[in-house]
This record gives sequence, C-alpha cells and structure tokens, in this order.
Amino acid sequence: AVAALAVSATTAFAAEHEAGCDDGEMVIKFSHVTNSDRHPKGLAATLLQERVNTEMNGVACMEVYPNSTLYNDDQVLEAMLQGDVQMAAPSLSKFEQFTKVFRIFDLPFMFKNIESVDAFQNSETGQAMKESMARRGLLGLEFWHNGMKQMSANKPLILPTDAAGLKFRVQPSEVIKAQMEAIGVSPQPMAFSEVYGALQTGVVDGQENTWSNIYGQKFFEVQDGITETNHGIIDYMVVTSTDWWDSLDPAVRDQLSTILSEVTTERNAAVGQVDADARQAVLDAGSTIVELTPEQRQAWVDAMSPVWDQFREDVGQENIDAAQAINA
Ligand code: LMR
Repeated sequence: AVAALAVSATTAFAAEHEAGCDDGEMVIKFSHVTNSDRHPKGLAATLLQERVNTEMNGVACMEVYPNSTLYNDDQVLEAMLQGDVQMAAPSLSKFEQFTKVFRIFDLPFMFKNIESVDAFQNSETGQAMKESMARRGLLGLEFWHNGMKQMSANKPLILPTDAAGLKFRVQPSEVIKAQMEAIGVSPQPMAFSEVYGALQTGVVDGQENTWSNIYGQKFFEVQDGITETNHGIIDYMVVTSTDWWDSLDPAVRDQLSTILSEVTTERNAAVGQVDADARQAVLDAGSTIVELTPEQRQAWVDAMSPVWDQFREDVGQENIDAAQAINA
C-alpha cells in the first residue's frame, strides 16, 4: 500500500506539474496563434492566465497555449463548440463561418487608427456584436486590440500596381480577398502558422499584417522590406462557448468576467507601445520600412476603397457612417 501510494503521489505530481493545475480546479484552456512576448494578444493572454491562477487559485486554473500549439484558427472554434477548449481570441477576420457583422473591420481604410476602432467597438452597435454568434453557440466576451496592417512582398511595394500579379497570403475573409483582388493580387487563404514557410519557399509572394505579427513571425526575414500602408486593422474577439459560459457557477463567472475586463482595459491601453516597439524591432533587425508620401498612399486608398461597395449591404450604411463619424 505504501509503494502504491508513493507511485500515485509521483504520478499526481507529474500530472500537476505538467498541467500547472491542482486537483479539483476547473481547467480553462485558452488557445491562440501568436507569440507570447512583445505581442498584444500574447501579453494579454499571459496576464489573464497569471491573474486567474492567482486570484482564482483552488477554483479555476487557466492554461494558455500560444503559437498554434493546441489549435490553429481554422480549428479552434469547432473545438470550442465540442468543449475541447474554453477560450480563444481569433482575429475578427476569422469568424466568417459564424457571422458577417465583423466584415466592417476588414474594409480597407475604414478606421483611421486603433482609437477609432476602440470607440466604434464601445458603441451600442459594437457591443451588440459580441452576441452576434449566440445562436451558433459562441459568445464574444471582449475585444482585444492589435494594430494597423502593413503590406510586404518579395519586391518593394510603393504603388498598388507594384503588387499586381503577385500572390498574397490572406486570412479567410471575403472582404480581404476582395481587397486583394482590387489591386490585382491573387489572395491565398492560409493558416497563420504556415505563412513564414510559404513566404520563404515562394508559395506566396507577400502578405499583410501588423508590426507585432511581422516581427513575431519574422516575416521581415523573407520579404523585401515592409510598406507602411496602415490600410486596415487586426483586432480580436475573446470568445467562449455559450454552453460552457452558462454552465459556470455565477460567482465564478462574475470573477472571471471581472478579471478579463480589467485585463482588457489594461492591455488595450498599452497596444500603441507594443506596436511601436515591434516596428522599431523590425528596423533594428535590418529590414527596410517604406514610408509612403501622401500621394502614394492616396493611390492605395483609391485602388482599394471601391471594395466598400461590394459589402455595403452586409455591413450596413449606418455602420459605415458611424465609423466615418468616429474617424473625423
Ligand atoms: C493572422 O492570421 O494573420 C492573424 O489573425 C494572426 C493573429 O492572431 O494576429
């Protein structure tokens, strides 16, 4: 009996050590696709994990799986509906199968900066978007920010015509596909974890992403500079399964929700610095950043903005007007 006890204690210790969770604690798996350091989402998820594991010790335990180590964004929402993962924060471009309301965030040059995005999300329309997937079993909890998107390719891009004829990796978003087609680029949807390899081997020529993703995934290593277009945004929805959320003890749900909301406020306020640091890190790594003149940037606006017409009905003219009023 003594020997058996010793073995089971060792096994229990090994399991606990591996998972970092204690017996009896509810395990909350949070899966995401970016790096943890120097990244808006990675830093927010890590802070959330630290706070849950300290303040809810004995009740709940969060395990964060970064870098697509558990699921990539094509898989994570289905896994959530199966109960295999409890939280994730895919970009708003990754919910196409569940709702079209986020399409407004992908329209090129819709938002001037992340402050405008924040104001729009905090409007009644923005907050209602959290409930837009409820009938499909998903509940939006908070918006997390990343930053503005930049363009890169295996050749310098000054004008949109420089990109014509190239293949660009895109997120699985109809709006982004249309935006690329508008400049003569062939859009290739692909998981985030595969982009570096695809750029390196020439499966695709270019991509669009934020400074923290370009730095975190080292895209600059396999591109001929980055063009600072600020043509769109990447932002996230922290999402959970409605069934799981409803199954929580109300006091536990309240505490988790309060911690998440505080982490959101703290990290969303800090994304400007994370973004600027990532941009600087790309420069320090020896990459070239092409800054456009107002005339050159206007050429990108003129080439891409007609895409709005294709999605006006989906996103609603009143929402476009609201976004434009916030920008002003
Ligand atoms: C992408 O797929 O490029 C981004 O959505 C990745 C991310 O989560 O920022």
